[in-house]
This record gives sequence, C-alpha cells and structure tokens, in this order.
Amino acid sequence: MCGIVGYIGTKPAAEVLLSGLSKLEYRGYDSAGIAVRNGLDNPLIVKAKGKLKHLLDKTNNGKTVPGFVGVGHTRWATHGAPSELNAHPHCSDDMNVVGVHNGIIENYQELKEKLINKGYTFYSQTDTEVLIKLADYYYKKYNIGPVDAINKVMVRARGSYAVAIMFKDYPNQIWFAKKGSPLIIAKGKDESFLASDVPAILEYANQVYYVEDYECGCLEGGNVTFYNLDGTDITSTKKLVNIDWKADAACKGNYPHFMIKEIEEQPRVVEDTLNAYIKDNKIDFDSIGLSKEMLSKYENIYIFACGSAYHTGIVAQYIIESMCNIPVRVDLASEFKYRNYPLNKNGLAIVISQSGETKDTYEAMIKAKECGLNTMAIVNVKGSTITRDADITALTYAGPEISVATTKAYSCQLIVLYLLAVQMGYAKGLVDEKKYEYYINELKQIPSKINEILDEKVEIQKLANKFLSMRDVFFIGRGIDYALCMEGALKLKEITYINANAYAAGELKHGTISLIDEHVATVAVLTQEDLFEKTQSNMVEIRAREGSVIALTTYGNYKVDQASNDQVYVPEIEDIFAPSLAIIPLQLLSYYVSVNKGIDPDKPKNLAKSVTVE
Ligand code: F6R
Repeated sequence: MCGIVGYIGTKPAAEVLLSGLSKLEYRGYDSAGIAVRNGLDNPLIVKAKGKLKHLLDKTNNGKTVPGFVGVGHTRWATHGAPSELNAHPHCSDDMNVVGVHNGIIENYQELKEKLINKGYTFYSQTDTEVLIKLADYYYKKYNIGPVDAINKVMVRARGSYAVAIMFKDYPNQIWFAKKGSPLIIAKGKDESFLASDVPAILEYANQVYYVEDYECGCLEGGNVTFYNLDGTDITSTKKLVNIDWKADAACKGNYPHFMIKEIEEQPRVVEDTLNAYIKDNKIDFDSIGLSKEMLSKYENIYIFACGSAYHTGIVAQYIIESMCNIPVRVDLASEFKYRNYPLNKNGLAIVISQSGETKDTYEAMIKAKECGLNTMAIVNVKGSTITRDADITALTYAGPEISVATTKAYSCQLIVLYLLAVQMGYAKGLVDEKKYEYYINELKQIPSKINEILDEKVEIQKLANKFLSMRDVFFIGRGIDYALCMEGALKLKEITYINANAYAAGELKHGTISLIDEHVATVAVLTQEDLFEKTQSNMVEIRAREGSVIALTTYGNYKVDQASNDQVYVPEIEDIFAPSLAIIPLQLLSYYVSVNKGIDPDKPKNLAKSVTVE
C-alpha cells in the first residue's frame, strides 16, 4: 500500500523516481507525486491525481522537474480521499521538511491537535502531513539535526511507516526511517536509492540493505549511513543482501498487461519452485531447516493467510488432512488475530504470502509464535518482513509479481503446499515409497500440462464474451474443487467487477439457487473423480432454472456435455494436484473478461497489492 522512492546522485532525479514509481504502482495508484531538489532551491513538488501516467504527462516524463535529489510516492488512500491535495510529497509550510510516507500513523489526530496548539495549520487530511510537520517541529524547537528530529518522531508516532524526508538545510541528503512498513536501500557509484520494494531499483543495483524497524539513516551521494533509535551510527552492522531477480522480470516486455505475462510465466516459475525443493527425485526441505523428523511429529497444522493465499491454504487443508491424517485449521489472518481458540503447541503454524508484507498475515504469525508454535512462512519476496521473523521460510520462485491480481504466486504457493503434504505424509509413514515416487512424478508433469492449457487460450478468450452481460457468476464445486472455486470467484470479481461467489455445490439448494436465472452464469468445476456425479446433478438443477453452466473438467469426462452449455477441459493429473491446472482457465477467463470490459486488469479500481494496513 503506497510506494515510496528516493534518489540522490548524478542522474536527473525525476526520471529515476518516475521509473521507480512505475515499478511500484501495484502498491497503489490513486495519485502520485515527486519532489525534486535542484541545488539550494526549495524542492519543486509536482503531484497528479490518478495513475502515474498523469504525473508523467504533467512533468513531460520528468523533464520539467530538474535536479539530482528527490523523493516520490504512489498512493493508495487511507486518510483523505484520492486528490491532488492529499497526494504526497507533503511539506511543512516553509518547505523546511518535505517527504513521502508509506503506512499509517495511528495517533495522527492527537499529534495534529498538539501541532495546531503550537501554531501549525494543515492543508490536507493526511496523517503524512502530520508526520512531516512533527519532524519540522522537533527540528526547530530543539535546534537539533535530522537524526535526533527523526528519532523523536519515531518515539512519538504510533503505527507503521517508511518515510523519505529532505531537510532544507541539508541539500545533498535524503533521510529515511522505518517501522512496520518495508524499506530497502541500494547504492551505486556516487548515487543511492531507497524504495518500498526491490523492483523499483532492479535496473540500477543487485544488492540491497533492508532497513529494520526503528532505524533511520541518510543517503548522500554513494554513501549510506544508518542510525539506531539512540542516534548511534550502526552502519558497520548492516549487510548488503543479493537480489536474485533480473531487471527484465519487472518489465512488461511485449505483453499488453503484466497479468497475461505472469499467467504465461507459470510453467517456468512452477518448474523453478519444484526444482528448488526436489533433489534427486526426493523432496528436500532440510535445506530450509524443516527435517522429516520434524514433519513426522507435528500433530496439527494451522494456516493463516489473506485473499488468494488463504485459498491455497484451503486446498492444502483438504490434501494434508487426508494424506497426513492430522487436523488442519485454516483461518483468515485478519480473523485469527482477534480470536482465541486452543492451539496445540506440537502444531506447525504456516503463513502464506506473496509479498511477505501483508500486515494481518505477519501479525497472525507473530501471535502463533507467541503462543509457542513453530512458524513456517511460504513467501515469494526474499528478505520481506514475514521471512525475517518466521522460524522456517520456504520461498516460492515466482519472481516479481506486478499485476495486482495474483496468478503465478498463487500457483507457486500451491506447489510448496503439495510438496509439504507429500513430504509430511511420507515422514509420518502414511505415504509409501511407491506412492511418494508417483506423486513426485505427477508434480513434475504440472509445468508441461499448464503449457498445454495455455496453448488453447483462444478458446477461453471466446468464452469470455459470454460473461459480459452476466449479472452474477457462481463458481461451484465440491472438495478441492470448492477451494479452487473460491479463487476463481475472487479473480473474476476483483478485475471484472462482476459479482461472483464460490459455493460448495451441495450448498446451492440451501438458499442460493433462488438467485439463478438467465442473467446468471455458473462455472462448475469437476476435477475430482469421486465427486463428479454429485456436482453434475447440481448443474442439472441450475440448467432447469434457465441458468447457463460452464463445466471445467478433465479430458475424458465428456458426459458433462449433457449438463452444461459450454465445456473447458484440462489435461488429466492426479486429482489432488488438479487445482494447479484448473486454475489456469479461470485466470484466463477473468483476464479476458476484464480486458473486454475495458478495465485495466493490472490495476483494478480501489485495490492495491501488498496490504500493509489492517
Ligand atoms: C488477489 C490477491 C490478494 C492477495 C492478498 C494477500 O488476487 O492478490 O487477495 O492474495 O492480498 O497478499 P499476500 O499474498 O501478499 O500476503
């Protein structure tokens, strides 16, 4: 939520900032702004409401904002409506302090009142303006330098923040501070960068520093200095971390949207994730500190996640329960945080997150840890907040995911969860050697089978036209198919704005069927052999009420013809791994409906990727 960037060096700052913001736009896109400083002059601040494109137009791609020092921001509104006034950067009235912020200052009202009593006035509704003016207040009142002023702010402000600030008296420096929101720093020859996330600096650097909570610091040319809350220089303790991603991974290339690029990358990234954990035809989690002995002993599994990541947890629940014969409880991270139920300390708490920054997921993990559980994080972004506090981290190898709607990260999460289930079943003696080999071989087929589905994508493109006039769409299925339906429905509603709901097929008759008519389409997912006929009966009931039905099943199940208007087939695979194949047509369907409706699937309205607020 919100992306910040900062640059100081020898290049025109505005161009570096705008390029960085274009890579962070997934974090929010209701307004954007930059502040660039040219020598001793006050920074020139330019902001524009709406997507970054408006700021690019307004600044002629940055050319009208000269200077070599600057900060930038792309916003997902929290305090105050999306508007030019509320857009960042914000400044003190005399431009003594100018800065950008990602996060939420929880006690901003109280701080604002304090500042109003001291004579400050406010032009925006944002908590950020309060933060900037608080820094200005401490700086002037105590006649102190930036380190002390920032540290005083950090002591006083509650909530989360990553900030980049310029002080009038320090024309060749950019200051930063962090608590709770991500912030990375990179440096080059005579230049340095800061950003909320790695894609913003991939073009310029392949190593980064992660700023920790309650640290602040300063960029000056190619030098970076870090301080702790006492104002002690801690630079010598900071370590540069290698980035594994390539610069072009965060670019669209010849694709019209990141989403379709990311959908098409799935065979490769799924294979990369499989290869990371399958060595010599055996699953290897020892390298991440998760031995077979540990897996054999867990008595319960608790899974916490949000959105699509939560949906992968539901798939895993079905598989782990039946394969490993232990109870699996899956909770939305935002719910788990505020409820109390008995947790078995011999259980493993798994959190799943693409970004590794989702606040609810992070806090659920911390709560599980505090309750004495071992924690495992399945995360896509190396070095992210969740990975730094988890006991065990299993990375997914999806590469940077830029489109707001997740596709490839979801697929890679499924892979890690399947591997975990199989390895745990094996460790517990419930999966024998022969079955183990069989499962591994089946898993290795997934990338090529995804490719086969992608080769037929034009069929889904044609089908997408049928959805344009639909009022509602239901996704129905049983067992694992129901878990998959949850993801299919979320994908459709988030990028097409069509109301879509996932229903356990057996539940339809208990109320929902009253909504079925000719304006409602139902996608029925039937990949589980033992449940096929049951779901088929539910399809017949829908057709009898004038609802149209699209069946999604495996090749060979041709009898779905009798109960559906349209059919989509995916290659055969062991039933428990079917979600990895059946999700592909559902992703494609949402993508094509979105594009046909003239929506930008990469940046659907009101959303942002990486939800770092509650
Ligand atoms: C939907 C989507 C979201 C995320 C959710 C969790 O397409 O992307 O539902 O899955 O916000 O985000 P992460 O995985 O970063 O924790």
